[in-house]
Order: sequence, then C-alpha cells, then structure tokens
Amino acid sequence: MAVQSESFDVAVVGGGPIGLACAWRAQERGARVVVLDAGEPGAWHVAAGMLAPVSEAEFGEGDLLQLGLESARRYPAFCAGLEDPGLRSVGTLVVARDSDEAAALDRLAEFRRGLDLPVSRLRPSQARRLEPALAPTVRLALEIESDHSIDPRKLVAALARVVDVRRARVTGLRVAGERVTGVLTADGVVAAEQVVVAAGVDVARLDLPESARVPVRPVKGQVLRLRDPRGPGLVERTIRGEQAYFVPRGDGRYVLGATMEERGWDRMPTAGGVYELLRDMSEVVPGVFELEIEELLAGLRPATPDNVPAIGPGALDGLVWATGHFRNGILLAPVTADLVASVLNDEALPDWAAPANPQRFAGVAA
Ligand code: GLY
Repeated sequence: MAVQSESFDVAVVGGGPIGLACAWRAQERGARVVVLDAGEPGAWHVAAGMLAPVSEAEFGEGDLLQLGLESARRYPAFCAGLEDPGLRSVGTLVVARDSDEAAALDRLAEFRRGLDLPVSRLRPSQARRLEPALAPTVRLALEIESDHSIDPRKLVAALARVVDVRRARVTGLRVAGERVTGVLTADGVVAAEQVVVAAGVDVARLDLPESARVPVRPVKGQVLRLRDPRGPGLVERTIRGEQAYFVPRGDGRYVLGATMEERGWDRMPTAGGVYELLRDMSEVVPGVFELEIEELLAGLRPATPDNVPAIGPGALDGLVWATGHFRNGILLAPVTADLVASVLNDEALPDWAAPANPQRFAGVAA
C-alpha cells in the first residue's frame, strides 16, 4: 500500500541516525511511526563517528558539552538494543606536535579533570608504547579512555532494521492554520498527527512558513576513507591531532578527517583538502602514507548560528525539530531521540536541554 494512503501518529523527515533514532524511541512509546527518506545519504555517510564530547566541544561551548555528555552516557544502552551498530570502545589519544599544542593539551586535561572526566597525561614514550605508529616527534599525548567511536554506516543500517523507512522525496510540510497535518512529498501527502524534521542540512530547502524555520547552513567536511592492505593494527585508538583525526574501524579501515569549509552546497572533494588532511595526520602517524584510498568524499554538516542543535517543539503545533547537529550528529543521536520522544508525549524537557530549544531562533534569518 502506498504510504500516501496511510496516516501516522508521527512522520519523521530524514532517515539518518537522528531521524531513525527519534522514530525508534517514538515507536517504543507506542506511536505508529514512518520515516520518510529520499535515499541520498546525508552527513552521516561521511562522518567518522567519534563519540568524543569533550574533545569535540570547543572551550566555551558548555551547553553543547552538556548535551554531548548526556548522549555519551546513554550510548551503551542505546546500542544494546540494536544488532551490530558498530560501537568500538577503545578510547582516544589526543596528541601534540609542538610546545604550543602541548600547552593546549594541558588546558584540555585541566578542563576534563574539572568535569571529573578521566584523562591521563602521557609522555611521548608512554604514548608510543600504547600506539607504536605515533611519530617519534610527538611532544605529549592525552589518553581519554571514555571517548569511543561508532561506524555511522553500521549504526544507520542497524536502526533502519527496527523502524519503518519509506522512500519519499519530501518537499515541505502540510500546514492547516497553525498546525502541521502532514508531510508533502513528490508523490503526494503523508498525513501525520506530528512531524519530526530531522533532515540535516536539507531542512534549509524545505517548503515551510518563514516564521517556523530554524536557520541551518552547510559546513563542508572532506574525509578520506583509507584501508591498510596489511590488515588492522596500524593504530587501535582514535588519534586526534590539532587539525585532523584518524578513526580506526578495527578491520584495517580508517577514516581521516575532516576539513571545515564554508562553501555553501559544494560537496566536491579538492586536492587542497586532501593535502591538508594527509599533511597534518602524517606528522602524527607517518604510516598513513602507506594506506590505500577507498573513498574520497565530502559531507555537509548542518550548522546553526550558535553550533547547538535545534531539538524540541517548533513554532507550529505538531512540528518537532531535531536538526542542526553540526559536528555532533552521531554523538547526539541517543539524547536527541529521548528528548524528541518526550516532546511527542507532551512531557517537559530537562533544564539542560533548554539551550537546544528551537524557539531561540524565532525571527532569525536562515
Ligand atoms: N565530528 C567531526 C567532524 O564534524 O568533523
């Protein structure tokens, strides 16, 4: 039966990890849910999948950090409900190449200790005992055992097995007065009591009343997906440098990322982007030069003006936002899903979720 002839309690726009996780949690609460997805993978397809709330949040991004810590705490239970979500609990080494970077690492260590998060300061020889592939020139390293990683492609596949995903090109929302009554697709209307918009950067292209929008812009990130023909073992942990990160999948594959570029909707990988990533990581792990390139690609992170996502009720009845996750879409999937499930069930959100309230953007141009 065509999806347009059915009606749902909840329609979720966007079949990436955020949309799928929201659908899963809403379904667990008893709602009849459909996920509408165009079948063109979003930023998650490019993402490395670091679950690293502290090393990803910049100093001063305390609101984001709080959301990230909440989500990281929820990740093990979230994954326990899924088949083969690709979680790797092996920790992270953040490394410094020179004295400036070492000073910055000491500040990061101080910051983490202030939050009671475990962090170990390692001399170069100690770091190289853990990860022998590190360059002899490395000055200092922090071991963050609680910063893990997940394979976003496996995560999305696992989530897609537990919810109802239908192929549909969503063009906008159906609105009657001040209420959302469904989703407009290229093939017709899908009726729903409530609509969760989790379409990443594509929310900027949806047909919506101007007053109901949240401002999201694309921030390009280029990555290299690499493979070691000798198999796994070059590094075990995620390695983060000042400019680049290197995330092992555990099977001889690695993701090396990522650039941060304000280039609109451009998704073309460039020679300069590849050069920068390889230059920066090869100073930390020289062995990257031996790896084969499997994929070279770029994704568009959905960024809001304050880098905090928009999670919660929108300006129309029945509209719920789950977008603008910028650098943290994979990390924030579990907490976003729990918050959205609460909103769909008319429950008040906790105080720490207030900075993500989409209403803060009322009147802000995209
Ligand atoms: N979370 C890493 C990135 O956005 O590049």
